[in-house]
Amino acid sequence: MKHKACFLKEVVEFLNVESGGNFIDATCGTGSHSEEIWKNLKGKGELLLMDIDDLSIKEVAHKFHDRGVYIVKGNYAKMDKFVKRIGWNKVSGILFDFGIGLHQIEDRTRGFSFKYDSPLDMRYSKQNPVRAEDVINTFKEEEIERILREFGEERFSRKIAKEIVKSRPIRRTSELVDLILRVKRRKGKIHPATKVFQALRIFVNRELENVKEGIRVAFDILKKAGRIVTVTYHSLEDRIVKDYFKGLEKEKRAVLITKKIKPSISEIQRNKNCRSAKLRVIEKL
Ligand SMILES: C[S@@+](CC[C@H](N)C(=O)[O-])C[C@H]1O[C@@H](n2cnc3c(N)ncnc32)[C@H](O)[C@@H]1O
Repeated sequence: MKHKACFLKEVVEFLNVESGGNFIDATCGTGSHSEEIWKNLKGKGELLLMDIDDLSIKEVAHKFHDRGVYIVKGNYAKMDKFVKRIGWNKVSGILFDFGIGLHQIEDRTRGFSFKYDSPLDMRYSKQNPVRAEDVINTFKEEEIERILREFGEERFSRKIAKEIVKSRPIRRTSELVDLILRVKRRKGKIHPATKVFQALRIFVNRELENVKEGIRVAFDILKKAGRIVTVTYHSLEDRIVKDYFKGLEKEKRAVLITKKIKPSISEIQRNKNCRSAKLRVIEKL
């Protein structure tokens, strides 16, 4: 299934793509935002696409093979090194569309979704030594409880952690889902396993640490009047961005270009993955 990107038009507008320059799509996924940036750039600049996941890189390598863009597989928290390597000094605009893409959720071999039975992997990068299975089967009960509480805001974290330790070894997503359903009743539209899967994915991929470091490095390599646009999907990552941007504004190193933007009703109708999306923009002074 193809990933549908949120805030396609807004991203291009806020990045000032039409004025030209060199841009980074730091989380290119299957390249919907990249495509929009590339189209609006109209040859007046350069584009670097980054992603940590082989599947994303394979998709964009195919899609952009004849378009003269740079494509790099790597962690955006290290984007300064990649930028140097391709010979850029400072950058005009950087996009972060955080979190996970539909292409990854729907990949039945990766363990990201509670809808499919697969091994408990959940890594974006195969170089990452920690899989969800390692957390589930080797971490202490208190540690698992903390992960579920901190990264999933899961109210049943203690009960679920206890049940996990009792039911080990747990190798597959279906076993984890069954165990959660023993502890937590289904209520409303949200699946009871949603928060546990989110928490494990965030922990395994060090997502919050990367968000923090990624926006800091991005600001360092930004030109004066250059912009960072972020799209976040949950309060944990949004808080990190909000606090960092506010700090920069207070120190008079950047201005907030807009208040936090939420998707319109028509955007949510078109793409329900945008329900919780929030867009933020800063410009470097
Ligand atoms: C929401 S998707 C982006 C979708 C994309 N904007 C599009 O138009 O298809 C988020 C992407 O960020 C990537 N990602 C997550 N953590 C990353 C990191 N630390 N460095 C680089 N990419 C990362 C994921 O692999 C995923 O492809």
